[in-house]
Amino acid sequence: MRFQDKVAVVTGGASGIGAATVRLFAAEGAKVVVVDMNEGLGHALTDELDEGRTHFIRCDVSDRVALEAAVKDSHDRYGRLDILFNNAGIGCFGKTPDLDPEVWEKVIAVDLSSVFYACRAAIPLMRAAGGGVIVNTASISGLAGDYGFTAYNAAKGAVINYTRALAIDHAREGIRVNALCPGLIDTPLTAVAKQMSGVLDVWLEGIPMGRAGTPEEMAKVVAFLASDDASYVTGAIMIADGGATAGTGQPDLAKFLKP
Ligand SMILES: NC(=O)c1ccc[n+]([C@@H]2O[C@H](COP(=O)([O-])OP(=O)(O)OC[C@H]3O[C@@H](n4cnc5c(N)ncnc54)[C@H](O)[C@@H]3O)[C@@H](O)[C@H]2O)c1
Repeated sequence: MRFQDKVAVVTGGASGIGAATVRLFAAEGAKVVVVDMNEGLGHALTDELDEGRTHFIRCDVSDRVALEAAVKDSHDRYGRLDILFNNAGIGCFGKTPDLDPEVWEKVIAVDLSSVFYACRAAIPLMRAAGGGVIVNTASISGLAGDYGFTAYNAAKGAVINYTRALAIDHAREGIRVNALCPGLIDTPLTAVAKQMSGVLDVWLEGIPMGRAGTPEEMAKVVAFLASDDASYVTGAIMIADGGATAGTGQPDLAKFLKP
């Protein structure tokens, strides 16, 4: 019960990594506000969990005014705000000359600017209460480039360095800020790509553990970062990718050696 009497806000909390984290926070005693634009999934999740301990707010996180209001309303509803998990995100595909500028702006707004908007609303509340914790979902796609992932790579790379800036700016106010960099995780976000013929085999070949991660495995990392177990951890970029970014890309030569 690491989150007894704590209040958490989870953006993108209706599905995938966010929903698994909402479940874990709630199971360990937190009151959780799910901020998401998917009303059906959001209500289904809060109905599934203990009524009164979780609350759903429908909000498009790219809408600054709506997101700042959602953070403040969450604080007012439960009387405090201890944990902010900035997790909502979308992907897109297209190399630079082919990428519609509106798609670029949307991805930057949802994946990057929303983190700023939510932090802008949450930090004064946390500061006034003597501290808090922020976890931002970045990606291993923020650590290096992917083919055709232009806007997503740009946004997630920026989330990583923004996390560091937040961490140093607010460390002495008792606010810790860390980022999670998932690799391939089994969620609706990756379902379409994985269904493309032959993609999954190639993808798994590049993951030393040979499998995708689960949302629940990500939730456990987020919960660690959000808990007092990580009391001296701030500005950390936590990779959870089955080893995908541990190698140089050199093939396993042993497979090609004659016996
Ligand atoms: N699944 C992966 O392999 C993977 C890998 C690296 C990083 N990530 C990141 O993890 C985070 C969660 O992704 P997921 O895989 O759980 O995906 P998901 O699609 O299951 O969940 C994302 C949630 O965000 C919500 N959302 C999207 N746009 C929104 C908006 N504008 N306003 C409010 N809510 C919005 C969706 O409704 C959904 O509930 C994202 O930031 C994603 O970039 C995922």
